[in-house]
Amino acid sequence: MANALWVLNILALYFSVSSPKHSLALPYEAVNLGNSLVTEGWMKPSRFNDKPNNDLLDGAQVQIMSIKLQKYLTAENSGGGDIFWRINESTFNLRVFNKQFMGLENQGEGTKVVAVANTPGNSETFQIVRKEDDGTRIRLKAPNRQFLQVKSESLVMADYGGSGWEDDNPSVFRMTIVNENNPLRGEYQITNGYGPDKASRIMHDHWNSYITEQDFNFMSTNGLDAVRIPVGWWIAQDPTPPRPFVGGSLNALDNAFTWAQKYGMKVIIDLHAAQGSQNGNDHGGTRDGYQEWGDSYIQDTVRVIDFLARRLNT
Ligand SMILES: *[C@@H]1O[C@H](CO)[C@@H](O)[C@H](O)[C@H]1NC(C)=O
Repeated sequence: MANALWVLNILALYFSVSSPKHSLALPYEAVNLGNSLVTEGWMKPSRFNDKPNNDLLDGAQVQIMSIKLQKYLTAENSGGGDIFWRINESTFNLRVFNKQFMGLENQGEGTKVVAVANTPGNSETFQIVRKEDDGTRIRLKAPNRQFLQVKSESLVMADYGGSGWEDDNPSVFRMTIVNENNPLRGEYQITNGYGPDKASRIMHDHWNSYITEQDFNFMSTNGLDAVRIPVGWWIAQDPTPPRPFVGGSLNALDNAFTWAQKYGMKVIIDLHAAQGSQNGNDHGGTRDGYQEWGDSYIQDTVRVIDFLARRLNT
């Protein structure tokens, strides 16, 4: 709790409605349990430490430049960067400036590198090989097992079978992580970053230790009478949320209700991460920083709120 408390906001809540079922003694003094059920890495960065290629999680923005030609791999790369979707520790999709994915032409039949796919498949999946003693120097292996090489200022092909790291090698690139000092570190990054084998254990360790019954005891003893608990949309599909999210957050929420009741506290549920991400921030559950919540997600979002309301009303 020491970790959590110093980032909590004390909220004074003034309700204008009263429920016939539960008597409300207004106002409440409540505290926000940030990072408890929706990961916000800045509150506990150490949970992100233990992964291979830890700097290349979903949402890492990179500029990839041919050292030989001193030209960027993708066009219009002067401002932001191309965005990684992580498949596993060494394999990625690259989402470029127009939201499309870099891949091989003709659905992977060709060797020319293009960025035309709206959803990534095998032909948009690349392995990144980093130079052992200089992780900014990379080569990219295409799904046809050949390395990308620059042919000219406007042509990149996946047809290089050689090796080597020299400056004039057309398959060698320099990768700069643009958002290195402000990386995305949310629920998507932690679960997908650890991968399906480890993520469940990491998240269960977190839920079992970050906020415990002792914290509810502490809060109520110190005069707080409510908590606000942020949840993510995937909680409505617990215990089998879509990958990479892992099951168990609903049980953690149930525990919080049990403890709140025991210590005479109220709970405010806050749908903090809506499907598609309402804001592209860490706490919005985004994969890559794009805000893609919109009309098409309204029904899903209402269903999540209905789910929570039904569950908590029993
Ligand atoms: C990563 O994913 C690729 C593509 O699915 C696969 O070929 C490779 O074996 C995986 N590597 C690891 C370390 O799991």
